[in-house]
Amino acid sequence: LSTRLLAGRHALVTAGPTFEPIDPVRGLTNRSSGKQGYAIAWALARAGARVTLVSGPVALDTPAGVDRVSVETAEQMLDAVEQALPADLAILTAAVSDWRVAGAADTKIKKQAGEGPPALTLVETPDILKALAGRTKGRPALVIGFAAETGQLEARAAAKLETKGCDWIVGNDVSEGVFGRDETRVMLFRKGEAPDPWPETTKTAVADRLVRAVAAHFTKEAP
Ligand code: C5P
Repeated sequence: LSTRLLAGRHALVTAGPTFEPIDPVRGLTNRSSGKQGYAIAWALARAGARVTLVSGPVALDTPAGVDRVSVETAEQMLDAVEQALPADLAILTAAVSDWRVAGAADTKIKKQAGEGPPALTLVETPDILKALAGRTKGRPALVIGFAAETGQLEARAAAKLETKGCDWIVGNDVSEGVFGRDETRVMLFRKGEAPDPWPETTKTAVADRLVRAVAAHFTKEAP
């Protein structure tokens, strides 16, 4: 990647899972490794962009040349994303928990003999992609989301372009378990264009190709 591709651009990336506490020692999270988002942040940096990576808890090193903001919950992730604006582009790969526990306990919930398990009430977390893509002020010119689906990828990704209000969706079928793997197979969905299936390859190669597509988009928009 040439450092001229995205020189002078600020790119915002979210990656990894979120962690929603139940009490100080337990929480709700998911299997996202953060590998795809970190590969994208690194590719953006190699393409010359200034990169802010808002990351949930993952076991990965911060890529060279990337500013990382570490968060745990969906609400913290939304705050960090808003703090990082303005940005020219945003690529939201994070697997944000759909729910958090209402009224998380601030001391460890004890197992009580004869009392049975505690009832947890779940409430929805903010949809960061929808919030960012729907901004009237400070919306990045290009907002890209991810869609991990098990089946009906095309229909679901197309629907997600509409409901989220983003410009592109990178869709992947996770039926065969891409979580934590180094390889993936994705399709690029751009508003008003036919779906573009990419061959199965590494997450690093997908990141590089996506960054080239982003750079080509900006060249076309503002030559
Ligand atoms: O709705 P779904 O979770 O399938 O959408 C996936 C896309 O939306 C991803 O780009 C993900 O990062 C983003 N998302 C988000 N905030 C949420 C849920 C999803 O930014 N609360």
